[in-house]
Parts: sequence; structure tokens; C-alpha cells
Amino acid sequence: MKSDVQKLMQKFKDTDIPIIEAAFVKVYLQKKNIFFENSRFICSYLERVADRDAELYRYIFDSFHFGQIDDLIGIFELLLNSENKKMNGMIYTPYHIKKYIIEHVIVQNEIPKVVDPACGCGSFLLTAAQFLKERYGLSYKEIFGSYIVGFDIDGHSIEKAKVLFNILSLEEEGTSIEEGCELHTVNSLQELSKKTYKNRYDVVIGNPPYVRAKNMEKQVKESVKLWSVVSGNVDLYIPFYQLAVEILKLDGVMGYISPNTFLQSVNGRGLRNYLVGRGYKIAVLDFRETKMFQDISHYTCICLIFKGKSTYDLDYALLNGESSLDKYEFTTYNIKNYPVNKEWRFGNSRIDDIIRRIESQPHRLEDYKIRNGLATLKNDLYFFRLREWTTTTITERTEERRSP
Ligand SMILES: C[S@@+](CC[C@H](N)C(=O)[O-])C[C@H]1O[C@@H](n2cnc3c(N)ncnc32)[C@H](O)[C@@H]1O
Repeated sequence: MKSDVQKLMQKFKDTDIPIIEAAFVKVYLQKKNIFFENSRFICSYLERVADRDAELYRYIFDSFHFGQIDDLIGIFELLLNSENKKMNGMIYTPYHIKKYIIEHVIVQNEIPKVVDPACGCGSFLLTAAQFLKERYGLSYKEIFGSYIVGFDIDGHSIEKAKVLFNILSLEEEGTSIEEGCELHTVNSLQELSKKTYKNRYDVVIGNPPYVRAKNMEKQVKESVKLWSVVSGNVDLYIPFYQLAVEILKLDGVMGYISPNTFLQSVNGRGLRNYLVGRGYKIAVLDFRETKMFQDISHYTCICLIFKGKSTYDLDYALLNGESSLDKYEFTTYNIKNYPVNKEWRFGNSRIDDIIRRIESQPHRLEDYKIRNGLATLKNDLYFFRLREWTTTTITERTEERRSP
């Protein structure tokens, strides 16, 4: 799909992205026989695809096939420009991760109010809405009208979220929700710091933006300082953790996929301090070195926080990739007395033990002045070209060099 979208963007490089997106929506609706003519919202959205775009429309119609609405979300992601990805951390979450998080946070008997404070084009919320429909038997009009709330700093993403919510409702129920949803274009770190948002939601979900301090816009950099977890060169996702805990009602649950660096990094100290201070139960599914997103190099984890009684329990599981989401085992650690200035390491007791032993040594490498590394002065003995990857080859070559 990626190379097909790249080809299309090359061919139609003079066409604005919102027009290309709308053309994809139009093709999606037509290929899936979704009747949208009664929706004023969708009709007015599609007006941007004019007669002059007939070739674009035809090209998309002939080259792309759609299964689920998530395919459209995938296209929207591929059409994002790299500047937006860098400044706003716009990366959408793979379906199985959304599904896992949603199934573990929407567990209430009463219908919960679900919020995504950095919702992008609403992909997480859309999956949550499908889940609410299945679990509580509501219509999309009711769900989007009363139980789903999204915020994002980018107005274009919010528009796409509205379009997707309408398409979902049209496709599954034959009616559109029009403007009947709570989606807001705001800087969440500014807006949701207000008192009125405290203790307001039952569930917070999302994939908060991963943006390094040096790539943040000035206005965002300022708003980051409103959160006490922020210290030093913070990454944007860190204050989104505090934000989630604060807007949750007591007994609410948060589920994020985010970088796992807050467990160990210096700029995660503030967050570690905050989490130990509250003592809410936490569950971390750590992907450690497995890359869960194509095209980005962050190491990530799923983190769930249960805002309730302080237990200081942290359930930790180390995963080897997406398939392990079905089979993993938690080990519970009590973090009450964990030092927040040190790295938190869980999961591999052998490696943890070695690190603890190294860290407890009285002398550190930095205590010594090192001028020269190790010099063998016999490079021809140590460097050799490998002909074949077998132990005999290595032995033979080494012996060959040794003989006079
Ligand atoms: C990784 S995307 C998440 C998209 C969506 N939650 C998902 O998982 O598919 C991060 C989103 O955060 C938004 N964002 C970045 N800074 C923000 C801020 N200060 N307030 C609100 N949203 C922000 C970006 O515009 C982007 O859409």
C-alpha cells in the first residue's frame, strides 16, 4: 500500500492533500456501496473533489481496494507529511494494539465516557466506539453524542476524525452522526490543565505524541511547563501521562502505547516520582527492543494505570513482539520504595543482577583518566577476513597466520 500511495503522490504532486484524502473517501463510499447522499456533512466535505479531479478519482478507483474502515485510516497516515510527523508526533496505532488496550480499559458495568487527548484522526476512538456498540448495545448516534471525546492540536486531523465517525455510522447503521460528536481542536496540555477537566472521564486512551524538546513548537514548549512531571529535556509524551491521570475520575483507567523510556531515562524522573507518589496500580507490557511501528525507531510499551486505591503494585511483562500480546506473564513489583532518580529495571533478573552489581562498585570508569585504549600492536593477528562461517575456517585461518 505504501508504494502505491507514494506513486500516487508523485503522479498528483500538484494536488492538495485534503483533496486527495477526500477523493479516497469518495472512492471508499462508492466501492462499498455506502449511501451518503442524505448526509449534509459528508456531501459538503466531498465538494472539494471537483470535476478537474476526475483523473485522480479514476486513478484511486482503479488502483486501490478497501476492506475495513481502518484501511482508510492507513491511507490518511501515509498521506501525512514528514514535517507533521516530526513536530506533532503523528503516528497512528496498529489495530491489534488499539484492540488490546481498549479491551483492558473498557471494563466497567456502567457505560464509560472515553477520551483520547491526542486523538489524531480518531482511529483509537473509532475502535473504542465499535467496542462500546458491541458491549453496551448503543447506536453510534448515542455513542459519539455522549461517550466519546477527542482533542487534538491539529484541526485537519479533527476534520478527518469527524469524517471517519460519520462513515462508520453510515456504513454500519445507514445514518450519519453529522456534527453530533465531541471533537475539539486544542492544545490539550494547555486546555486540559484547567480545573474543569479534573476527575471527569472514566477512560483515557491513546498514543500520545512522541516529540523531542528540540522539535517542539514554541507554544507547545510553554504548555509543557504546566505539568509537574516535566524536568529537563522532556519528550512530549511524558506530560500526557500526568494529564491522563488527572482528568480520570477515581476508579478510572488509562491505557497508552508510548515510548518506554520513562522507566529509565533522566527526563522520566519526574514521572517516576509522580507515579510512586500516587501509588496507583500500573501494568506495563514492554516491547523493549521490538519495533512496533514501521518507520519510527522508538521502543515502546503499553502502559495501563488504574486510578484507585494506592497499592504501589507494578505488573511487568516483557514481550517479544505483537504475537506475544496473547501469551505473556506478569511479574508484580512493589515500587513503593523504588528510587526515582535511578533507572527502573524489571523483567530479566539475571541482567538486572549484573547491572546492580556493576552499579554498586565503589569505582567508576569516569573516575579514571583514560588516554590510550588497548593497543595490541599485532593487527595482522587479530584482523582477518572470514571466508566461510564455520569454526574450522576460523581455526585454519588463525593457524595459517601463526605459521612462520
Ligand atoms: C501519535 S498521534 C496519535 C494518533 C491517535 N491517537 C492514534 O493512535 O491513532 C499523536 C497526535 O498528537 C497530536 N498532538 C501533538 N501535540 C499535541 C498537543 N499539544 N495537544 C493535543 N494534541 C497534540 C498530534 O497532532 C497527533 O495527531
